[in-house]
Amino acid sequence: MARQQDPFIGRDILNGQFQILQKIGSGGMGAVYKALQPAMNRMVAVKILHPKLAGRKDLVSRFRREARAMSHLTHPNTVKVYLYGELEDGSLYIVMEFLEGKNLNQTVRSEGAMPLERGLPILIQCCHALEEAHRAGIIHRDLKPENIFLSHQGGMKDFPKVLDFGLAKVSERELRPGSIILTQEGMVFGTPEFMSPEQAQGKTLTAGSDIYSLAVILYEVLTAKLPFDAKNPMEFIQLHVTAKPKPISERVPGKAFPPLLWTVLEKALAKKSEDRQASAAELAHALTAVLQGLPEVPPFHGGPGTPIQRLPSENVPTPAASPAQLVAPVVAQPAPAGGMGAPPPGYAPQAVPGPTIPSGPRSSPLPRRTPAAKPSAGLLVGVAVAFLLVGALLAALVLKVLM
Ligand SMILES: Nc1ncnc2c1ncn2[C@@H]1O[C@H](COP(=O)(O)OP(=O)(O)O)[C@@H](O)[C@H]1O
Ligand SMILES: [Mg+2]
Repeated sequence: MARQQDPFIGRDILNGQFQILQKIGSGGMGAVYKALQPAMNRMVAVKILHPKLAGRKDLVSRFRREARAMSHLTHPNTVKVYLYGELEDGSLYIVMEFLEGKNLNQTVRSEGAMPLERGLPILIQCCHALEEAHRAGIIHRDLKPENIFLSHQGGMKDFPKVLDFGLAKVSERELRPGSIILTQEGMVFGTPEFMSPEQAQGKTLTAGSDIYSLAVILYEVLTAKLPFDAKNPMEFIQLHVTAKPKPISERVPGKAFPPLLWTVLEKALAKKSEDRQASAAELAHALTAVLQGLPEVPPFHGGPGTPIQRLPSENVPTPAASPAQLVAPVVAQPAPAGGMGAPPPGYAPQAVPGPTIPSGPRSSPLPRRTPAAKPSAGLLVGVAVAFLLVGALLAALVLKVLM
């Protein structure tokens, strides 16, 4: 079997410090293994960048960025990184705490939508993990249920761990000049179902993008549905940019949700980042009010000590893309007067033109993930530059016709 031929299985790495036992996950960038660390008598998880990608400077720098991003974080709800570096053969690795349990997507698929009392605490804890990352200038950029692991630890069930900072952007001050190879500007990574409107458009991201994704995750956890019904990645992207999310109270027949939940979710799902909660801590605060059954969210005072900041991550180049991840550019939306493809100011949500989306029952309890060529590395879904080019071309044509 192909799986048995994995060159790492059964191997000792780093002078016998770790014995690789079995593969526990894999994606486009590499694989995650369960390994034994005999000196500590414990299991660890080792993520190894695929050796055949070791020559890809863009992927190598992305992998390093993930390791560096995660090793900066100490929140208990973020997976802990023990060490990272290069193996004897040049393969890059990250050694992490080994988690037992299953991810949030697997959990909702097997157990169905969660009651508020279970789903809210999970997301509140994730908000706190993200708050730490955001304050460190790190935006996750690929938050989805598959990247939230519900671990059992110390007798605790449902202890969430945020995984996979593979697409994380570390703010400029964390980067040495030239440490990101920028080959194709304006490309967008992420997962369409959970992608913020600004990410779908290839714009600069702030912490607000992660806040939007957290809200989509919570929506799915509580309803086993997404805020939009779509048939393919492009449609999801279009709907995130243009459509009003379906009110949560309409999604599960016979299930009532507190009105405050929708108030909080609608805010977090706002099209413009500045209309959302200003931080993950503020979203946690609002969700806590929902959990407590309060009629409204009490004033939020910005968390412990530090003022809530907008991230200094502007101007950090978008990571370079693997050509294999390219899909069609996002040009489904006619560019408005501004020519940027963004919803115009005072934007009013409207029905998306095009084929009607069937809303009949699905065979699986959750919408199927749209297939990605390389899911672990995040699907490249759009080329925002296309907006500019199409806009510029149209403008040039119009000018030519007029003159
Ligand atoms: N520390 C860990 N402990 C146990 N399983 C893990 C751990 N890290 C990752 N995994 C498993 O491997 C899968 C892929 O890991 P992830 O970091 O998301 O990589 P990818 O870049 O391939 O998406 C996860 O969904 C999870 O099931
Ligand atoms: Mg992942």
